[in-house]
Amino acid sequence: MNPANIFFIGRKQGIGLRRFRLSHLENRRPAESDGLRSASSSIRQVRLLRNADVIWVRVRPEFTTDKERQKIGKRLRPFRDRIPIINDIAVFNNYDCKDITFSIWKEHGIACPDFISFDIFQDTYNNSYVVEQIQNFLQKYGKVLLRTNNETAANGVYLLNNNITEKEINAIVKTLENRCKMFFPTRSSTRIIAVEFISSQDEDGYIDLYRAHILMGQIISYYAVTSKQDIFHNVDMKEQWLKRFINLNEILCDNIHSLKSQILRAASALECNLGAIEFFLVDNKPIFIEFNPMWGGHASTFGFGNTKVQNYLDTNIKELKKRIPNIYAWLNYPNYYKALFEQIHKSIQSTTY
Ligand SMILES: Nc1ncnc2c1ncn2[C@@H]1O[C@H](COP(=O)(O)OP(=O)(O)O)[C@@H](O)[C@H]1O
Ligand SMILES: [Mg+2]
Repeated sequence: MNPANIFFIGRKQGIGLRRFRLSHLENRRPAESDGLRSASSSIRQVRLLRNADVIWVRVRPEFTTDKERQKIGKRLRPFRDRIPIINDIAVFNNYDCKDITFSIWKEHGIACPDFISFDIFQDTYNNSYVVEQIQNFLQKYGKVLLRTNNETAANGVYLLNNNITEKEINAIVKTLENRCKMFFPTRSSTRIIAVEFISSQDEDGYIDLYRAHILMGQIISYYAVTSKQDIFHNVDMKEQWLKRFINLNEILCDNIHSLKSQILRAASALECNLGAIEFFLVDNKPIFIEFNPMWGGHASTFGFGNTKVQNYLDTNIKELKKRIPNIYAWLNYPNYYKALFEQIHKSIQSTTY
């Protein structure tokens, strides 16, 4: 089988002058280009779109403007229905706007948090009506996240509980209105959203967050992280929680098979064929909270949890590798990306046009 030709398109490659800087993959993960090089008997990067057998759209969603999306879309147009496109820019809003993600999931009967969203640029937008709606929503769920629909939590997500006053809600809404105004000229789908907070079922207050990476109808990796913080990312995991982290991942390795079809359905409902999907498990059933097409966070650069957690995993690899092979498969970045690129090659062989 001949190697497949892959063309990367994003803000920094494939369009404009940067198309000549092929090394400049947008959101390149450490060892990703090594992985591509090692997979060269299966897949190779090409400079010209017309030589491509597969196109991978890679953009950092939170920095991608409407104009850049249009430019990418225009270049993809002649290739749609002819060759596979990974994460076509046409479905950008499906994963980028959490309100749209949740609506699609709801339409497909896929479990996700309830939400309400507000477009501050609509003629009918009314600040005090919005505050009232948020208060009602809060009364219903007890705990609610208030944020923009298209930013990472690091840039401002507010956790509301029943103690919050109307004045405080109003102040947060004002801040979010300003963020919407700032983004609107370049990212016109920006909205304010209130999202049901999925509370922990655990009596000790642990929150376990699951993540699976999907590539063209397959799960290529998965892991669980745990914390006692309401809003957390993998990097926040502390050494006190190591035992639980190991147990959770051991159980996940046994259970992933039974979750597989639900996870794949949640990705395909968004029409995304590559990305990381995040979910909680409530009574062993997934509740999906996010789809990230270009994962590139702490876990893909440094590993799991704080330095002590990762050191422990490194030191005890021999004993732990059998128990949590998913964690070590992920941490071997060059191999991981080699396998990812080889899998792209394999998947496109079975795609017919
Ligand atoms: N609906 C929700 N219920 C409970 N916790 C949530 C919910 N949405 C987000 N979180 C928490 O906030 C964190 C960040 O939110 P997320 O939507 O994944 O944004 P990002 O990863 O882009 O910062 C999650 O890791 C999780 O801890
Ligand atoms: Mg997340």
